[in-house]
Amino acid sequence: MHEITILGLGYVGLTMAACLAEQGIKTTGVDLDKEKIATINAGKSPIHEPRLEEFISKALKAGTFKATSDLENSLRTSNITFVTVGTPSLPDGSISLEYVRSAAESIGRTLNRTQNYHLVVVRSTVIPGTCLEVVKPILEKASGKVCGKDFGLCSNPEFLKEGSAVQDMMRPDRVVIGENDRRSGDTLQDFYHQLYEREMPRLIRTSLANAELIKYANNAFLASKVSFINSLAHLCEKTPQADVEVIAEAIGLDPRIGPLFLKAGLGWGGSCFPKDLKAILAYAREQNIELPIIDAAIRINEIQPIWSVRKAKEALGELKGKRIALLGLAFKPDTDDIREAVSIRIIQRLLQEGSFVSAYDPAAMENTRKLFGKKIVFADSAQKCIQDADCCILITEWQEFKRLTPEDFRIRMHEPILIDGRRLYNHEEYSGKLNYYAIGLGSCASTS
Ligand code: UGA
Repeated sequence: MHEITILGLGYVGLTMAACLAEQGIKTTGVDLDKEKIATINAGKSPIHEPRLEEFISKALKAGTFKATSDLENSLRTSNITFVTVGTPSLPDGSISLEYVRSAAESIGRTLNRTQNYHLVVVRSTVIPGTCLEVVKPILEKASGKVCGKDFGLCSNPEFLKEGSAVQDMMRPDRVVIGENDRRSGDTLQDFYHQLYEREMPRLIRTSLANAELIKYANNAFLASKVSFINSLAHLCEKTPQADVEVIAEAIGLDPRIGPLFLKAGLGWGGSCFPKDLKAILAYAREQNIELPIIDAAIRINEIQPIWSVRKAKEALGELKGKRIALLGLAFKPDTDDIREAVSIRIIQRLLQEGSFVSAYDPAAMENTRKLFGKKIVFADSAQKCIQDADCCILITEWQEFKRLTPEDFRIRMHEPILIDGRRLYNHEEYSGKLNYYAIGLGSCASTS
């Protein structure tokens, strides 16, 4: 039976630790943040993620999980360490390897004092070459041992989505193992067999560099797919009777294209797509390689949120002194995360234009308040948010906003102007009753 250390209890590390422990695998989560450790050991999740808290408290009770800041002790009692520390963006778009380096250094120093074979697995998102050229030399120097002989090294990217991270960890569509040597790969494969037993997902075993690159290719492709449909949406708006939703549905039926990540909207945000696309571009620049598709995906995304402000201006004549209601602040539904959320760009632009902004989000208001304080008004319900507004912009497609009827908007708003930035509402029902504008919808678009 493998025993696991997970170094870095951010959203990936904590989700992984809780899922392994819930499956009965003895897991210790290590983090420097003592406050976070106390919260976790009290059975609470420091992040908003469905089922995570339930998994943490079940595993704590079963005795299969604990959080600690004592890496040395944890490493001694485990045989595999997953590194899940953060790799934040630097001003030029490249990533900082500061935490990866110090994790390797600490692991290496402890390996120096242990006898048994230990496998180190990098799960943080890192640019190609990091495992081989950065992590391996640091581990070897600090431990005084030889990688591939005394200890092992793998790269093992994750594809967890916020809001469904637990489910994604329990039932991944694939496991990618980049290996320094055969024994390292065999050990990690054996661990995943123990975890998934008969439901072992498709396994890809490959080089360290391929594994590192797969993660970036995955995110860059998905973000480009969204940017593609978002730019097509603008063409649809200029084309009478066109509707990007119908086009996305039809092209999505082509198995070579597929239906997912073809939902036009106000752009992509979050802690991953923006950071990863910039990082892969920065890496390519260093290699003197151009990645024009990724470059274009970023540029399309930068202007996408502003479409909603432009639409509001067209509908109202001017934005100065107007009350604009914003529904949804999180970068996507079912999370309180506003990192790189398009709502931030929209609020900034509206404030520049001199509008009064009221906002409501089921989970992300506290985080948004930290950024904007009293510059905007936070309503405690969607109904209160749209009250007396001159225009409403739907930014995040939370299901609870679907309960708002055209009458709710008409009765409460000063001007019944609704800009649907996520195609949440049925345009045939809403266009007849409100001044309804939707992303990717040409004039008179109708299925009848
Ligand atoms: C993304 C990837 O989907 C995960 O596979 C990956 O593991 C993760 O990044 C990561 O690198 O850690 P996540 O950031 O949680 O996951 O969010 P997504 O569900 O991918 O959505 C990203 C953004 O794209 C959101 O702002 C969402 O609103 C937008 N989006 C997504 C669209 O505008 N249209 C779509 O059709 C799909």
